[in-house]
Amino acid sequence: MPVPSNWFESFFHGVTLDLWRKAIPPEQTTAEAEFLIDHLNCDAGARVLDVPCGNGRLSFELAQRGLRVTGVDISEEFIEEARAIQNQSGPPATPTSRDSDSSTRVEFLLRDMRYLEDQAVYDGAYCFGNSFAFLEHAEMEKFLRAIARALKPGARFIIETGMAAESVLPDFEEQSSHELGDLALTIKERYLAEESCIDSEYIFERDGQTESRLAREWIYTVAEIRRMLENAGFSILDLYGSLKCKPYKLGSQELFIVSEAR
Ligand SMILES: C[S@@+](CC[C@H](N)C(=O)[O-])C[C@H]1O[C@@H](n2cnc3c(N)ncnc32)[C@H](O)[C@@H]1O
Repeated sequence: MPVPSNWFESFFHGVTLDLWRKAIPPEQTTAEAEFLIDHLNCDAGARVLDVPCGNGRLSFELAQRGLRVTGVDISEEFIEEARAIQNQSGPPATPTSRDSDSSTRVEFLLRDMRYLEDQAVYDGAYCFGNSFAFLEHAEMEKFLRAIARALKPGARFIIETGMAAESVLPDFEEQSSHELGDLALTIKERYLAEESCIDSEYIFERDGQTESRLAREWIYTVAEIRRMLENAGFSILDLYGSLKCKPYKLGSQELFIVSEAR
């Protein structure tokens, strides 16, 4: 079945959000927040862009560490959840920071990350949570140029992704199954070599109900990501293969790129 290029506009609601909430343990969010604090090079009170922010799990952690965070996401459900957590009336979701001081340092905007319009307002930005694969090449370039425009010169932009070619292709599996609490998930994937993308069908089963969603993720090599960043106005500072700053190599499960707006 063909996957529409704007699949992400309708993918992130209901069961897929449950999957994401269950997939990331709080310790991982804390470790990612520590990594961001160590590498964003921002002072307390600096303005940081979390894009896409999901339910704000990292926005809250960084706000608790003194940064002022703007989270942007296209999912109405996630933005509502983040705002509910901010107002301390929401469900006990993954973000743990609810003190009143830090909640005044976050804001959440329901927005498509392809159309960011800010100009030189942020002291740092990050794209975490394996979200750097949703856009095909031309759209990705637009997104990166928009981030570069939104940052002040010298501000850092940090990407985390598990979808770089060197991470995904060595162990590519056409089918995998996962159990997350009461949720059973089967993912069927097809690698389209001529396009360098993966078309996936996510099949969820819970309480006897089955639901299926389609996604397309674009696979870029590390060198392509570097070139796209450099063309958009960034200099590459560091590449890592883990939150502990191990070197990135073929088969590393995650890639972290720390870059700086010129
Ligand atoms: C896997 S989640 C990661 C969320 C967050 N970065 C985190 O680490 O928790 C991917 C997020 O990307 C958002 N997203 C996908 N396409 C988007 C777009 N074009 N603009 C803004 N958000 C988008 C989804 O709504 C979803 O919240």
